[in-house]
Amino acid sequence: MTNLPFVDVQWIGGAYSPPEEHTPEQSAALRISDDLVAEFLSADEIVLGTPMYNFNVPANVKAWIDHIVRVGKTFEIKDTELKGLVPAGRKATFIVASGSNFKAGGPRAHHDHESPYLQAIFNFIGITDTNVILAGDAKDLSQGKVKEVDFLKPLIEEVIAAA
Ligand SMILES: Cc1cc2nc3c(=O)[nH]c(=O)nc-3n(C[C@H](O)[C@H](O)[C@H](O)COP(=O)(O)O)c2cc1C
Repeated sequence: MTNLPFVDVQWIGGAYSPPEEHTPEQSAALRISDDLVAEFLSADEIVLGTPMYNFNVPANVKAWIDHIVRVGKTFEIKDTELKGLVPAGRKATFIVASGSNFKAGGPRAHHDHESPYLQAIFNFIGITDTNVILAGDAKDLSQGKVKEVDFLKPLIEEVIAAA
């Protein structure tokens, strides 16, 4: 997921036109998306570990999402209806690391735009069995206020419970 190209005009033109009409530039722009979609659809279960940047996903994660949310492959437009195309029964777990704490019911929960976004976009393409694990207060770890083993213990328990 490192240094993915962002979708551009060639990508969009290719994604919304039949393959037999693609220009070489459109085919080239879609190649990485084709590979990422194939990889994504080959997985029964997705586990996405990601930091929070400015209350949402980092740009690299957003670039990956833009490549895998693909018309005709992971969603379709029929008349005016939008429908997810990921086969039923898939599951996703999101592990969101953040410097601060965004636990439900806490004073900063309303700033977490990342967990609802990840769940919404996965729901959109057909994955409704989603789980979020908030690895908040990661700043305490980098500042040496908590030991790694103590920081990870409750998170590992949550990961095991979500498996
Ligand atoms: C550009 C940037 C933006 C960040 N935005 C947030 C934020 O909105 N909320 C937060 O709690 N932490 C924020 N952080 C802290 C990271 O979420 C935290 O360092 C990360 O989750 C821990 O993973 P790491 O060890 O890969 O840095 C930000 C960090 C960076 C570098």
